[in-house]
Amino acid sequence: MRLLAIETSCDETAAAVVEGGRTILSSVVSSQIAIHAAYGGVVPEIASRAHLESIAPVITQALDTAGVTMESLQGVVATRGPGLSGALLVGFSVAKAIAVARKIPFVGVHHIEGHLCAAFLEQPVQFPFLALVVSGGHTHLYHVEGIGRYTTLGRTIDDAAGEAYDKCAKILGMPYPGGALIDHMAAEGNPAAVKFPRPLLRDGTLNFSFSGLKTAVLQHVAKHPVAIPGQEANDLCASFQEAVCHVLAAKTETAIRQTGAVRLVVAGGVACNSGLRKRMAALCAELGVELHIPPPSLCGDNAAMLAVPGNYYLTHDLASPLSLDVTASWDMDRIKEQLP
Ligand code: KG4
Ligand code: ZN
Repeated sequence: MRLLAIETSCDETAAAVVEGGRTILSSVVSSQIAIHAAYGGVVPEIASRAHLESIAPVITQALDTAGVTMESLQGVVATRGPGLSGALLVGFSVAKAIAVARKIPFVGVHHIEGHLCAAFLEQPVQFPFLALVVSGGHTHLYHVEGIGRYTTLGRTIDDAAGEAYDKCAKILGMPYPGGALIDHMAAEGNPAAVKFPRPLLRDGTLNFSFSGLKTAVLQHVAKHPVAIPGQEANDLCASFQEAVCHVLAAKTETAIRQTGAVRLVVAGGVACNSGLRKRMAALCAELGVELHIPPPSLCGDNAAMLAVPGNYYLTHDLASPLSLDVTASWDMDRIKEQLP
């Protein structure tokens, strides 16, 4: 099936044309980061308006780059949630309108399901597998038995990993979102320079907590102000990154041992992180686990990732009714209840 995929859950307006849930003909991502930068975070109302302005040109660019026409599409997929309601509504409504106008099926999918399935755009991953999804809003470990069949094993009880990166960057006076910049600075720093806490490391669960880490950074900076750029700032970023990656890897290792998983998928914006990628590669090599991490271009928000579950649902007669609405929060574990 040749699908048009549309993603507008937060601050990226994205469209892609993907064939067979596998072959990316185009993937266009228009970022609103510069618009929100002045506010230090995403402003929902501004995001909705920016999506409205960008959605048509982004879709046109996706079709043109793919060298296909709207008439040649066989289905449309869009993010239904979770995310900012007003932002989601833009992509979701446009997707439905195209489906009605072209008389083709439409399906709404879970944003995190898209992240998790992005690995399939590189190569198919055999089920079942363990997935660690680390993004701006999620830090979850899932047992994945098939498309739509997800069971949460552990999750953050407060901030997500990406959120912790962004808050740490804000404390250091760096622009939003700060994850990539901290990663860059960490590469030049000493990860043992500052002893930051490893939250919930030995609590016996697969849950995460990152809000204490943010507080520890705040307290450290209050006592030892750091200049940016500079070696002290690099050391602080390296130490922060070490703490985050240590906890993510330790909990993932416990989950692998508990479930006997032989395959691991790491996905979401934070999966771009060079320290995390290296650590996961080392962990999987040590445990003999097959590792799948999408290329950085498919880890952050994009629309191509949605076409993987989208293609599955549409080829299995699981199109969404046009009466379906967006949802700001949506538990991944409940998707399987809708499956036959
Ligand atoms: O998946 P994503 O693009 O959007 C959400 O669904 O949230 O993730 C965005 C998050 C942001 O918090 C951003 O700071 C973080 O991913 N991020 C990184 C890196 N690149 C993006 N965090 C750490 N290291 C990176 N290289
Ligand atoms: Zn995302």
